[in-house]
Amino acid sequence: MNVHVKAPQIGLDGVPAAVTALSLVEGMAGELVIAGERIDDLARHETFEGVAARLWRLADPGTPLADPALFGAARTAAFAQARRICPSLVHLPAIDGLRAAIAALSVPDGPNAALAIAAAVPVLLATLEALRRGETPLAPDPALGHAADTLRLLRGRPATEAEARALDTYLTTVSDHGMNASTFACRVVIATRASMVSAVTAAYAALSGPLHGGAPGPVLDMLDEIGSAGRITDWLAMALDRGDRLMGFGHRIYRTRDPRADVLKAALMALAPETPRLALATAVESAAQAELARRHPGRKLDTNVEFYTALLLDALSIPRTLFTPIFAIGRVAGWTAHAIEHHARKGRLIRPEAVYDGVRP
Ligand code: ACO
Repeated sequence: MNVHVKAPQIGLDGVPAAVTALSLVEGMAGELVIAGERIDDLARHETFEGVAARLWRLADPGTPLADPALFGAARTAAFAQARRICPSLVHLPAIDGLRAAIAALSVPDGPNAALAIAAAVPVLLATLEALRRGETPLAPDPALGHAADTLRLLRGRPATEAEARALDTYLTTVSDHGMNASTFACRVVIATRASMVSAVTAAYAALSGPLHGGAPGPVLDMLDEIGSAGRITDWLAMALDRGDRLMGFGHRIYRTRDPRADVLKAALMALAPETPRLALATAVESAAQAELARRHPGRKLDTNVEFYTALLLDALSIPRTLFTPIFAIGRVAGWTAHAIEHHARKGRLIRPEAVYDGVRP
């Protein structure tokens, strides 16, 4: 290989790994386009089921058109599998239990695989959680929207319209995001012609790390540790001095504020404008932006999606242990669409190279 790269810099920055019509991340402008629409417009008028269906059809126009009724039927079908899969996994933390449960799904590849997998994710999670609490898992209600039923299954009570709308906005907002780490993992696996369940399992595993989808729980931990406005400056300095990363800040692509942060902040304000955490969080956000700018003048580190994800999901009374699994309930639309698109465009095996700096015999 003739490329001269300093090993610590390697991270495939700027290297195209796919051609896609699903989403576009404009890092300098801070814009995100999903299914041909800017994220703020899309989140305003489209449901999660609508976005998923559009992504699947964009990936391959031959994909059957999914609608809320088909999502509901697919959740019901998934419940039979969840009751078989979940009892042996309740000893695992939720984030790991869901990974194992997705891996155990039996979904034949074919035109309906994306819908079956996407519908199964919240059902598996809610079944795991109910069993962990020693309760009888609720059966899905196929008449409800995906977000409303997800909240009902997870919390054991019907969601209000405002709560369902807030979760729907969240799921829509995180449904796809260019060649992020989990989508790349999905593409690598589907490109080997492994099953869609295998590709989604790999994607979920990549999502679970704190540098990707594992960040929102630690965002709340950070706010709890800071506790009050008077402690913000000292806490941030201490954390950064010992080399910690501030969860909910920084992004590989965005060199400005992550546009999803604004959409989620607006959803939070609509749902729970009085939430006590909001005032502290806003103060932490400004102080963190200023401190990161001071310490990294050459690298713009701004608020990312995870900061307001944490606040929104907390306002929906979702425990922080479920934040990453909830992210997967939205992002599975994108993962499955990328899997469809890879085959529809006759994608090749993805096989990069490594810079060898070991001993030559
Ligand atoms: N807090 C403190 N310092 C940071 C942060 C942060 N959140 N993010 C980056 N930096 C620093 C790095 O330490 C590095 O400093 P150095 O040059 O002195 O070594 C510099 O900024 C550049 O960072 P990179 O590692 O090159 O940034 P990269 O593009 O690889 O990482 C990432 C992006 C992983 C998101 C990073 O900003 C981070 O770890 N953020 C915190 C975790 C987080 O919020 N993850 C969610 C991301 S959104 C999503 O995936 C859905």
